[in-house]
Amino acid sequence: MDTFTLTNQQGLSAKITNYGGIVMALYVPDRSGQLDDIVLGFETPEEYLHPHPYFGALIGRFGNRIAKGKFTLHGIEYTLVQNNGVNSLHGGLKGFDKVIWDAKPTDTPDGPALELTYLSPDGEEGYPGNLLVKVIYTLTQQNELKIDYTATTDADTVINLTHHSYFNLAGAGNGDILDHELTLNAARFTPIDETLIPMGELRPVAGTPFDFSRPTKIGLRIDEPDEQLKYGLGYDHNWVLNNSADPLTLAARVSEPSSGRIMEVWTTEPGIQFYSGNFLDGSNIGKGDKVYQHRYGFCLETQHFPDSPNQPNFPSTVLKASQTYHSTTIYKFLT
Ligand code: BGC
Repeated sequence: MDTFTLTNQQGLSAKITNYGGIVMALYVPDRSGQLDDIVLGFETPEEYLHPHPYFGALIGRFGNRIAKGKFTLHGIEYTLVQNNGVNSLHGGLKGFDKVIWDAKPTDTPDGPALELTYLSPDGEEGYPGNLLVKVIYTLTQQNELKIDYTATTDADTVINLTHHSYFNLAGAGNGDILDHELTLNAARFTPIDETLIPMGELRPVAGTPFDFSRPTKIGLRIDEPDEQLKYGLGYDHNWVLNNSADPLTLAARVSEPSSGRIMEVWTTEPGIQFYSGNFLDGSNIGKGDKVYQHRYGFCLETQHFPDSPNQPNFPSTVLKASQTYHSTTIYKFLT
């Protein structure tokens, strides 16, 4: 396991390991220029071998859930490991978060970068096709952590790659994220059943605790007696991003009042999973011996919608052997 540190001209830095492509630390300035590490995680790559909820990791082959660990492609049924109740989550038992990637640090005109490649063999975790994946992390001079994903396959398959950092803009381990103000550029979300699988509907957020179309504190409505919040134990849902003419859309904006830090999320993906760290329970002790309690971090996972292989009305996640998969997500930091 190796670690690499990217530092841009403004002094932002990202520490990344080739184990799972995990972003172990991300230092960004507050309103007075003070740098703080704003992602949950551990000090050494070895600590990520112990159970943890995908801190900072690359997720594949399929981010989010596939119902009952089964899908059918061209008439053939594929069976995946049910590693999340009855469903398959985040690529299975040994997803892209637990493999060693080939890593190559490079300097690009945008800023320092780390190029990660991984060849997932045909049948790995039950998915068809030899899938060659390349992920480039760039820490741009505009204070962005940019993630470019590319993949090709030699047989038709399904794919949904994402990134799973838990952010706390007040600094990792410094309290919960309920005072962060969130805006999501989405008029609809995909409601779920009790196993967190979408029911197929794109439901308007207007008038519900899922309406983040204006800046709203994450904690304001999180404990309301709402069936969807009950299923997720809080927010753990996919929002349908509003269409824009530009393929790279502003999906989310989060601001933290005490530090003045602001994070924007831009993506070419059609959806975003907002997860409010509901399953964090103090069992992970992170950097600086800080204990990660309930809702101490949030994830904004850009993605295709959960369970797409079983949902004919959702945008397709099929990657054909003749095609190249490409998506881009940018986490941009401002004050
Ligand atoms: C899922 C959560 C899950 C978490 C960590 C998120 O992407 O939506 O339900 O608990 O990952 O496993």
